[in-house]
Amino acid sequence: MEKKELLHEGKAKRIYATEDETLVIQEFKDDATAFDGNKKGSITGKGEINCTISSILFEYLHSYHVPTHYVRRLEGNMMLIKKLDMIPLETVMRNIATGSLVKRLAFPDAKPLDYSIFELYLKNDDLGDPLINEYHAFAMGIARPEEIRSMYRLTAKINAILKSFMERRGLVLVDFKLEFGRDENGDLILGDEISPDTCRIWDRKTHKKLDKDRFRFDMGGVEKAYQEVLDRISNV
Ligand SMILES: Nc1ncnc2c1ncn2[C@@H]1O[C@H](COP(=O)(O)OP(=O)(O)O)[C@@H](O)[C@H]1O
Ligand SMILES: [Mg+2]
Repeated sequence: MEKKELLHEGKAKRIYATEDETLVIQEFKDDATAFDGNKKGSITGKGEINCTISSILFEYLHSYHVPTHYVRRLEGNMMLIKKLDMIPLETVMRNIATGSLVKRLAFPDAKPLDYSIFELYLKNDDLGDPLINEYHAFAMGIARPEEIRSMYRLTAKINAILKSFMERRGLVLVDFKLEFGRDENGDLILGDEISPDTCRIWDRKTHKKLDKDRFRFDMGGVEKAYQEVLDRISNV
């Protein structure tokens, strides 16, 4: 499948058209951004590592009948995906308190949550991706009530699947972000990526951070940490 015109360039990926108008190519960049794009950098090899990690996780989710846009892995940092009409929302599921939960609501850092927390964010760079609830989404005409319900159900299912997948590999799934879209039949499908850019992942024994927090807080060893996640999830 060949790359045709560039349809969209985001902060971490590029989307290209293909000869099939229902399919697009997602190309993962080495570029990294954090704090609403205020911190910028590049992590050598990140694009290909994230593409591989995302591919493995999408394939694993397919085995549990989670609908995703993933079609197949292409060479290097590229993935063939179904073109979706993206819903400009991000769902977040949190199993352990950290990041904005600590800053905004004074949760003790690294506190395991007895009840996992589901959050909804509006994907809008100009507004700084604000936290919203489903009523905002309905009022803005972004998604229908049954779509938000499906997004919640799928996010919870994906959390259960990936949490135990990570646990068996000595990893803790702390929290993660997902994006959904509609396919040509209007069905809700998981899109975007699942990688250390979009999940927080810790080593179970040492709680060493193996995700984008290493970039956010200049902890060093970012590429090594991403490679470590890949190595652990590759060994079944
Ligand atoms: N299957 C898909 N079809 C069309 N667009 C998609 C699909 N999956 C993800 N996208 C969109 O492609 C872009 C991916 O690039 P990215 O660099 O992550 O963008 P951003 O800077 O907005 O986070 C995002 O806007 C995302 O919503
Ligand atoms: Mg993105």
